[in-house]
Amino acid sequence: MGDGTSETKSSNKMWGGRFAQGPDAIMEEINASIGFDKKLFAQDIRGSIAHATMLAHQGIISAEDKDKIVHGLSTILSEIESGQFEFSRQLEDIHMNVEARLATLIGPAAGRLHTARSRNDQVALDFRLWVKEELQKTEKMLTALIAAFLDRAEEHAETVMPGFTHLQTAQPVTFGHHCMAYVEMFGRDRSRVRHAIEHMDESPIGAAALAGTGFPIDRHMTAKALGFREPTRNSIDTVSDRDFALEFLAIASICATHLSRLAEEIVIWSTPQFGFVRLSDAFSTGSSIMPQKKNPDAAELVRAKTGRINGSLIALLTVMKGLPLAYSKDMQEDKEQVFDSAESLELAIAAMTGMVRDMTIRADRMKAAAGSGYSTATDLADWLVREAGLPFRDAHHVTGRAVALAEQKGCELAELSLEELQAIHADITGKVFDVLTVEASVASRTSFGGTAPSEVKKQIAWWRGRN
Ligand code: ARG
Repeated sequence: MGDGTSETKSSNKMWGGRFAQGPDAIMEEINASIGFDKKLFAQDIRGSIAHATMLAHQGIISAEDKDKIVHGLSTILSEIESGQFEFSRQLEDIHMNVEARLATLIGPAAGRLHTARSRNDQVALDFRLWVKEELQKTEKMLTALIAAFLDRAEEHAETVMPGFTHLQTAQPVTFGHHCMAYVEMFGRDRSRVRHAIEHMDESPIGAAALAGTGFPIDRHMTAKALGFREPTRNSIDTVSDRDFALEFLAIASICATHLSRLAEEIVIWSTPQFGFVRLSDAFSTGSSIMPQKKNPDAAELVRAKTGRINGSLIALLTVMKGLPLAYSKDMQEDKEQVFDSAESLELAIAAMTGMVRDMTIRADRMKAAAGSGYSTATDLADWLVREAGLPFRDAHHVTGRAVALAEQKGCELAELSLEELQAIHADITGKVFDVLTVEASVASRTSFGGTAPSEVKKQIAWWRGRN
């Protein structure tokens, strides 16, 4: 942090014509983004090479100058990659750091690179390229997570477990079906990622400061060179727009929310009380004082990182709200939120993929729990509707009485005798016991998207064809 004294410094190279004095130390500190936007170096250099190549192609700069620029930029790229580049805070950001170094390396030709360009379209380009690449990485990571769930679902298409609502035992389901619920969630996240990539697939470069340029540039050429579908269509919007960053953060928040729900389930399932899963050593920690413990730290941290990612979305929405068109320096505050969220999201997806792949499923524990808590009560009610012709509301009432009796006797529904059941409703026959087991309950739910193993296997096959 500077001491706030306003000693005279040499004025900035880029706008020294207008400024006699350099900035106050505090000004330099608040203004500089190099500390974080150096992450954009590869995109910045790629963008500049495409721009210089187009300028030469259009006859705006000479081929010799273009060659010098491209060669100089390639040198800078390897300097940064090998850690030899010295970043300077006085040069504010990645764009000016690269340009200043280019001037040192190739002399006056460097000054021609910024023709028909502004840092406003330059930063919009660099950041958009970065976010697009990050989303491509996210898409692959989600595919791996979905694959992990598909494998577990296949393995456990027949494994019964209690299904919950209000975290109270509701109806038996299969673990495979539960896994497939996450496949649907992460599948939606992945399709949001794909749509966002499509939305942002337009090249900002050539919008210049905000109004476009009088130089005869070819924006279609730079768009193509940089892997965009086409150039953006409005120069004012182009330098004002941070929707691509907001979309990234919104997608990250929803995905992190899904990961957090999964994390919470893993925390619950791995307690000795539930004992549905055993975590691998690779994704848990021990306690320094209690030797018996195995803690689900990775899941807990994934749950917590969601807070951080959601916070970044709100932070950037708040930065952008009320900003007049076009560029304002407020927008420099977009990057740290996105960088931090990207790192957190990558870690969270990787950790959950590892946990899902590695955890041991305790089918015996799941099955025991599946049958407790009168989880087949609905099956009894459905049987009364189907076999004894009762209206569902009456069947519900009869079943309620059977549950009350079992509760009073301290037994399960299937452990009541036929006589006891017939005392509640005379039309009940011995066949009812066929639907009171959890396996029968689960196998009967063959509606599309239901929990029957036959149905779950169909859903797995559908997803296999799309993953
Ligand atoms: N460092 C700036 C940012 O991240 C680059 C654009 C600066 N443009 C300007 N007109 N000052 O937003």
